[in-house]
Amino acid sequence: MKRLPMKPNYKNWIPKGMVCGAAAGSVVFLALTLVIGLTGLISNNTWKVVLTILFAADTLVFAVATLWMLLMYRAFSYNGRRQMSRHIIDGVASYVTLPLGGRGLDVGCGSGALTIAVAKRNLQASMTGIDRWGLEYSSYSQQLCEDNARAEGVTNVDFAKGDALRLDFADETFDAVTSNYVYHNIPSRDRQAILMETLRVLKRGGIFAIHDIFSRQKYGDMQAFVKKLKDLGYEQVELIPTDKSRFMSAWEARWMALGGSAILVGKK
Ligand SMILES: C[S@@+](CC[C@H](N)C(=O)[O-])C[C@H]1O[C@@H](n2cnc3c(N)ncnc32)[C@H](O)[C@@H]1O
Repeated sequence: MKRLPMKPNYKNWIPKGMVCGAAAGSVVFLALTLVIGLTGLISNNTWKVVLTILFAADTLVFAVATLWMLLMYRAFSYNGRRQMSRHIIDGVASYVTLPLGGRGLDVGCGSGALTIAVAKRNLQASMTGIDRWGLEYSSYSQQLCEDNARAEGVTNVDFAKGDALRLDFADETFDAVTSNYVYHNIPSRDRQAILMETLRVLKRGGIFAIHDIFSRQKYGDMQAFVKKLKDLGYEQVELIPTDKSRFMSAWEARWMALGGSAILVGKK
């Protein structure tokens, strides 16, 4: 018989593999710096000295990257003191209310944290989480989401493989759509088109709460997008910054490269 997980494990937005890769890079370049540097000094070889300087610079870059990722890993962790991911997930979930018997969609659900948080707040309805899984976030999977739901005692959820760029649902299927820190990860020249694809599957009258890094560089002119939605008849459309105190301090947003984080909310 399969053992049930005692506690949910939502993993970390900074994959452990990335931290280990950067740490391994630091160690390799440090070793090269020491070996080539020492032999260069002994043999008085100019090329070896130049190489040593380059390897030392690489060591520094990898060491700084490792430290940066470790600090973010600690801040995001669901077990640490800051628990920033939990705070953001709860904050986004608080914007999603489903009607009796309604159905919501979480795009790019990862380890299921937001899907489950919304489902917990909306026991009268159900949530579907979709993700393409298996690429950069290799520890996230459908099985992990289902284990987490079981560990939380949540039954009004289901999970499936899917692509945010082409959602496998008919127009106007869901009563609410939500997403957290997904679309900025997707290589695209037109992320506003990804938002429109999400809104395509939302029913008229349904609500949306999409949290991401809505910087101009990643999304283009979001104020124009808000106006476009209003012109299309969407109501109460707002782009609420979350990087100035709502979900994180301005200082955290800066050092974590999360500046421009905001939640796009409204009603179709
Ligand atoms: C930073 S994680 C966020 C996970 C989750 N939303 C959360 O808040 O914990 C980004 C997620 O987006 C997913 N993702 C990236 N591109 C996607 C795509 N085209 N379609 C569906 N999911 C995607 C990744 O697999 C990953 O699980």
